[in-house]
Amino acid sequence: MTEAFSPKNIIVTGGAGFIGSNFVHYVVDNHPETHVTVLDALTYAGNLDNLKGIPEDRLTFVHGNICDAELLDELVPGHDAIVHYAAESHNDNSIADPEPFLRTNVEGTFRLLGAVRKYGIRYHHISTDEVYGDLALDDPARFTEDTPYHPSSPYSSTKAASDLLVRAWTRTYGLQTTLSNCSNNYGPYQHVEKFIPRQITNILSGIRPKLYGDGLNVRDWIHTDDHSSAVWTILTKGRIGETYLIGADGEKNNIDVLKLILTHMGQDEDAFDHVKDRPGHDRRYAIDSTKLRRELGWQPEHTNFQSGLDKTIAWYTQHQEWWEQTKAATEARYKSQGQ
Ligand code: NAD
Ligand code: DAU
Repeated sequence: MTEAFSPKNIIVTGGAGFIGSNFVHYVVDNHPETHVTVLDALTYAGNLDNLKGIPEDRLTFVHGNICDAELLDELVPGHDAIVHYAAESHNDNSIADPEPFLRTNVEGTFRLLGAVRKYGIRYHHISTDEVYGDLALDDPARFTEDTPYHPSSPYSSTKAASDLLVRAWTRTYGLQTTLSNCSNNYGPYQHVEKFIPRQITNILSGIRPKLYGDGLNVRDWIHTDDHSSAVWTILTKGRIGETYLIGADGEKNNIDVLKLILTHMGQDEDAFDHVKDRPGHDRRYAIDSTKLRRELGWQPEHTNFQSGLDKTIAWYTQHQEWWEQTKAATEARYKSQGQ
């Protein structure tokens, strides 16, 4: 299918975070006709080093908050699309302190939709499979675009709220939007608070990995580069007003992923601690991405999880300076929560 929309000048919110920065690298590497403006508040999760090496003429960085309507008035005119990644993204943080999640995920999306309406540009909304709640381990079902919303955590409820704002603004004000819900990403530049980088950097720091509860919870892993190619496909070929689920058939339980990390790093596969479970911990996520594959012809490329995991372990091993400054504070926070 040919591209229906050829963006020349896009704003990527949250482009200094994990998935946003991987998307910026993807666009810069694969779409030389597109200039990227990153709008990022550089919270604890944002890091300018994630954008190192990108030529100056391909990228403009703006340090600012998506809730700042005046800044959006200055920034948005002259751009042809916003791809909205910025969020408070970590479930455990949302349980400890939900307020920043309301502000960034709900109010921030509201402000961006206001600017999109005012300046008549395209908008792609990045969301999560967690809006659908969870599935039982023995349920053969997977999430589809028709699954009812049933979020469990403060984080996922604010993402669900933001999705509903996008749908309502699209219908009421005729905005030109698309929306995607993706499963768990892994790859380089992921903050050490998240499961896979936490365990890799624990081992590299001589700390035993920590597994929540019984560890049988299932996540549907996708390499972040596959998420990027899917978002580009939806932005350029997707139908306005539609939602597409993004997934790569990567269901695995946490204990199996942890044992793979341990053995790939030369450790005994049982060299980890069971710690307190996450309150309200979702049991299983699973994505059926048939609509995206059939309608837009997208396919994931990085479907060998073991090889993707090996490259991710190598990246954290080689980029100790990238994570070591945040590691101690992250582990201190987990320790205070009994995790
Ligand atoms: P992240 O926490 O690594 O990065 C978030 C980025 O947003 C940071 O750079 C941060 O500085 C910026 N930010 C936060 N609040 C802001 C504000 N008010 N204004 C401007 N910038 C702000 O997050 P991530 O894991 O890369 O997730 C990115 C997006 O993808 C989120 O919308 C998340 O819900 C969604 N998502 C994540 C996953 C996953 O597995 N991590 C899966 C599906 C969807
Ligand atoms: O499904 C998409 C979602 O995936 C995104 O919307 C979120 O932004 C992203 O953070 C991620 O949410 P999870 O809660 O699934 O990811 P996290 O890395 O926090 O945890 C993955 C699983 O591992 C989960 O079942 C909890 C467990 N876990 C996590 C940590 C940090 C552990 O067992 N031990 C840990 O130390």
